[in-house]
Amino acid sequence: MSVMREKLDLLDRRRAESELGGGADRLQAQHAKGKLSARERLDLLLDEGSFVELDRFVTHRGTDFGVDAQRPYGDGVVTGHGRIDGRLVYVFSQDFTVFGGSLSEAHASKICKVMDLAVQNGAPMIGLNDSGGARIQEGVVSLGGYAEIFYRNVQASGVVPQISAILGPCAGGAVYSPAMTDFIFMTRGTSYMFVTGPNVVKTVTHEEVTMEALGGADTHGGTSGVSHFTTDSEVECLQGVRALLRYLPSNNLDPAPRGAGADPRDRRDEGLLDVIPDAPTQPYDMHEVLRRVVDDGAFLEVQRDWAGNILCGFAHLGGHAVGIVANQPAVLAGVLDIDASVKAARFIRTCDAFNIPIVTFEDVPGFLPGVAQEHGGIIRHGAKLLYAYCEATVPKLTVITRKAYGGAYDVMSSKHIRGDFNVAWPTAELAVMGPKGAVEILFKREIAEAADLAAAMEAKVAEYTEAFANPYVAASRGYLDDVIDPRDTRPRLIEALETLQGKRVRPPAKKHGSIPL
Ligand code: HXC
Repeated sequence: MSVMREKLDLLDRRRAESELGGGADRLQAQHAKGKLSARERLDLLLDEGSFVELDRFVTHRGTDFGVDAQRPYGDGVVTGHGRIDGRLVYVFSQDFTVFGGSLSEAHASKICKVMDLAVQNGAPMIGLNDSGGARIQEGVVSLGGYAEIFYRNVQASGVVPQISAILGPCAGGAVYSPAMTDFIFMTRGTSYMFVTGPNVVKTVTHEEVTMEALGGADTHGGTSGVSHFTTDSEVECLQGVRALLRYLPSNNLDPAPRGAGADPRDRRDEGLLDVIPDAPTQPYDMHEVLRRVVDDGAFLEVQRDWAGNILCGFAHLGGHAVGIVANQPAVLAGVLDIDASVKAARFIRTCDAFNIPIVTFEDVPGFLPGVAQEHGGIIRHGAKLLYAYCEATVPKLTVITRKAYGGAYDVMSSKHIRGDFNVAWPTAELAVMGPKGAVEILFKREIAEAADLAAAMEAKVAEYTEAFANPYVAASRGYLDDVIDPRDTRPRLIEALETLQGKRVRPPAKKHGSIPL
């Protein structure tokens, strides 16, 4: 055998060894928990055969507590790049079979390398997290490794999309790297995020709680709002990551990919005439409006199970990727509260960072009154939404379907905060408040003194409705660009989007603003 052949043989053996992870028993234990291996996950995430591994021969540098007895290649994380729908992405996939996927100095440096490459080369960064946290045997060196990742998360924020899939435990300070990425996916039954686990919680607060209830997928998808997508399986999760990327550009300078659908751009939708109920207090499902307007009815909803009174998500309109923010009259009458404000503000900033136009569908009775909301800081949180809309320089399109009352009218992408294309359906009501509330304040005495209270009330409500509860006052001032036939919503939005392709805005020079966090 030639020297080269011998060396190649050694390389092959070492490569094969590097793919063993923590060994067959630990892999079996991983499968028994219903979890896939780090490499199986990459196979599902990436286009077939596209994965190129980096740093497969890296080993840890620890020496304490017997950790030097094992120095598996790769050190518990598989890193590299691959393709999703042909587009370059950088990835890391933690291997729980090696020291529980825990993060050592070497493990962290591998992740940092791919993060640096993602930013340098303008490609999304996807992290598949399955880790026991800081490598206990490496102490503060491991904490330093985490901090290096955190710093890079922030440098990369707004430059390349960062997506985290939580596919196992994610505890302690380790949660803060995913928390600083743009989107978090979690899987029911196998993924957990918490700053302190159930045992510490029990010691400190005497509360008894399971891992699932404390930090499982449904908790973060429906209660805390920490995660953005909840899936039933790892396969669904990894497919979800692929689907999300169809709406995101590779970086903040590239355009988002075009939608592949063939929905005609001039399609009118007759059904839009029947969505709004005759009674203004009756709810309807805003999903129905979105479904009828966007390309092929496909709406990828973000944080679907949290703050359902506002809908956020991605769609294509005439092939253009757009971010949609929509009040949802079917939940809490579509009112703005703390969670809805925070949810939409974050989504708007993500869209703006990646130059994705924002389309707002508005039917909002106002901000939610109440002691809990005031004491919880609705002023501070509502301001986030207002700030995010004001700050966003991407094309902003607004369709008012029904109510646009009070401060919420201003907040929801109004012309005054630089909405580019603002239209209303004929059913729109733009006013300081609804007719009944307004009449009760303005004509309190007259109504109280009237012989027939109900008739007096009805007359004044009709008078107010005629004067204010319509779109024409706003349209007469140019606050609305037009009042449109609902059936034309799709073609009008596509037309407007295309006129805004070259939009340029130069905000005043500053280091950065100070969003009310
Ligand atoms: C080194 C670890 C480890 C860790 C697990 N292992 N966590 N090794 N450092 N942090 C090893 C175990 O020794 C074991 O090795 C293997 O991984 C699998 O662990 P098990 O406990 O057998 O698995 P399981 O029962 O599934 O429990 C998983 C777990 C548990 C819930 C993650 O291992 C655990 O609680 N680990 C510690 C979690 C933790 O407190 N981490 C620090 C968080 S604070 P063998 O050889 O038996 O296979 C933190 C700070 C971040 O991370 C700081 C950022 C600022």
